[in-house]
Amino acid sequence: MPLFIIQGDITRSDCDAIVNAANNSLLGGGGVDGAIHRAAGPELLNECRTLHGCDTGEAKITGAYNLDAKYVIHTVGPIWRGGNRGEEELLRSCYRNSLKLAVEHECKSVAFPMISAGVYGYPFDEALEVAVSEISSFLNSSQDDLTVYITIFSKRDYKISRELFDDVNKYVKDRMVFKEHRFMCMGMNAAADACAADSSVEEFVKTHIDESFSRMLLRLIDEKGMTDVECYKKANIDRKLFSKIRSNESYHPKKTTVLGFAIALKLTLDETDELLMKAGYALSDSNCGDLVVEYFLNNRIYDINKINEVLFAMDQELIGEYYPA
Ligand code: APR
Repeated sequence: MPLFIIQGDITRSDCDAIVNAANNSLLGGGGVDGAIHRAAGPELLNECRTLHGCDTGEAKITGAYNLDAKYVIHTVGPIWRGGNRGEEELLRSCYRNSLKLAVEHECKSVAFPMISAGVYGYPFDEALEVAVSEISSFLNSSQDDLTVYITIFSKRDYKISRELFDDVNKYVKDRMVFKEHRFMCMGMNAAADACAADSSVEEFVKTHIDESFSRMLLRLIDEKGMTDVECYKKANIDRKLFSKIRSNESYHPKKTTVLGFAIALKLTLDETDELLMKAGYALSDSNCGDLVVEYFLNNRIYDINKINEVLFAMDQELIGEYYPA
């Protein structure tokens, strides 16, 4: 189920399938197409010759030969001609058709490059928007366990919506400044705060000590009227991990896993703090990634892919269950 954005060279991915941004001839080229053919070796080209090309928006599958992957899925993205020549729909069908082939070949993991965002000139932020929305809607409607990685070759190319990035960045910077300021004032009434804090923590522990993280999570899923599948898919968590959490009362999740569930359950900041505390964590205003998540919680934007796009841009760990490709 999970979708992650990672940086790397797709030819080094050990996913079951890697996707090639090919051209209609399927006989190789530059960019990622050239890199994949070079890494796979000449047998890949020999097999491609038997496919007699591929229409734009379609996808065809071959072996992977010298690559670590089992398959290469070749898809042909649209050449960008201004955006009014059906480019978006063709790009969406590249992702859809590639994912269909991956599922038909029982792949458990697939790595995509940014199709059409190189030589074919598709604006990067729009191509990313298409990739994330198309892949996540496929994963949300799929019964299959499939983890997908969007592989960004060069961080320099990576662009998300400027407005969103600037908004989050400003929030993080302001909160970092506020934290320093608050730290300075802290000395004045530390004693009083400490006593107040003690009594409220004591009170809190008394009323909540018996509820473990997994019990609180399952309670919240019921209270929100969600199914388990809905919740873990929206949390960017895979089915196996969720069943581990459900079956093990004392399971200790990663912080990024807890934050994934907070987003899926559309928790408030206080509810998120409480869920984190169950797992022994807290949001920290000196941690950039935490402040990014806090921005989205405060603005009640519960789009985990949007959050991960910003976290990736800021070199922070993504939320959800993250297995390196
Ligand atoms: N790993 C991951 N991503 C890569 C790699 C790599 N090794 N090499 C390049 N990329 C990235 C590029 O940075 C770009 O973001 O893949 C994205 C797609 O760029 P292109 O390879 O240029 O593909 P595209 O824009 O779809 O153009 C396809 O280019 O190579 C030719 O034969 C290909 O004619 C076809 C056209």
